[in-house]
Amino acid sequence: MEFSNILLSWYQTHKRDLPWRNTSNPYYIWVSEIILQQTRVQQGLAYYLRFIERFPSIELLAESKLDEVLKLWEGLGYYSRARNMHKAAQQIVHQYKGKFPNTYSSLLKLNGVGDYTASAIASFAFNESVPVIDGNVYRVIGRYLGISYDINSVKGKTKYKEAASELMDSKNAAQYNQAIMEFGALQCVPKNPNCDVCPLNGSCYSAIKQTVEEFPVKRNKVKITQRFFYFFVVSCEETFVLHQRKANDIWNNLYQFPLIEVSKKESIENIVDQFTRNRDVDAFELLGVSKEVKHVLSHQHIFARFIRIELNEIPGLKANEVSVSRAKMKEYSLPRIITRYLEQNDI
Ligand code: ADE
Repeated sequence: MEFSNILLSWYQTHKRDLPWRNTSNPYYIWVSEIILQQTRVQQGLAYYLRFIERFPSIELLAESKLDEVLKLWEGLGYYSRARNMHKAAQQIVHQYKGKFPNTYSSLLKLNGVGDYTASAIASFAFNESVPVIDGNVYRVIGRYLGISYDINSVKGKTKYKEAASELMDSKNAAQYNQAIMEFGALQCVPKNPNCDVCPLNGSCYSAIKQTVEEFPVKRNKVKITQRFFYFFVVSCEETFVLHQRKANDIWNNLYQFPLIEVSKKESIENIVDQFTRNRDVDAFELLGVSKEVKHVLSHQHIFARFIRIELNEIPGLKANEVSVSRAKMKEYSLPRIITRYLEQNDI
């Protein structure tokens, strides 16, 4: 049997029953794919069900307030994906009169839709013959053919795309693409795959050579930036200050405690001094300083500390700041690092 038939037959017996697989509605498929770019299936499922329940149609998503979309997205990270979805929903409803684009090339014109998402929607919803290539697919194909090109290089991406197009069952794009992704997620796993039970072990290059751990080849590692955040949890009685982020940076539009960001670790004395001078605060009480928390994003590692300060009057608010009671804080869209602090600290 050839590669695609083996995968399709494996898929029939091993596939998980997931809600976005029982639909050809491009809106639902789009939502699921964007969520699954952020998180694993298990956690993504809950987000997906909540999202579809709150916004059961693209019209309802387009009409909603961005803040509400961000709130539902809370904890998933990469909030620009939620903002782009909201914008793309408005684009579809207003410019395309609610008709979801139905080809790979027209899907690519939507806000936030790149090669991966366009291929996924075009094939899953419209059975268009385009290969979907995510991390799982890179692994399956790289191992099966023993591709020596780096998946992060331009040349490597082209080679993988050619190979993926050749291997796919073009009459059965929807099922085939789901099958190869599922095969990578369940059978051809990154660490210690059990090749003894793999239906492709008779023709897989790296299983035969016993070199599965060497594929896919990844040479150019992405550079990680380190950032140092000092959050000021400032209160006056029950009132706290939140700041809405407004820069072309992580967590755009989300709320956080006022922040001093520096390029290397500094002493708490220095940082508190900067903050109080900056705000003309003279009477304050330092209630405590958290341990350092490390927050890992795809290209950044954030090292954060939370400095708890009590003032005897509410400080003058700066641009994009609001004063908020403790009870109302959870109504704001907050990055995960802030909600985790609130869950773990009794403030
Ligand atoms: N990961 C990304 N897309 C997926 C899908 N459609 N099913 C399962 N896992 C996925």
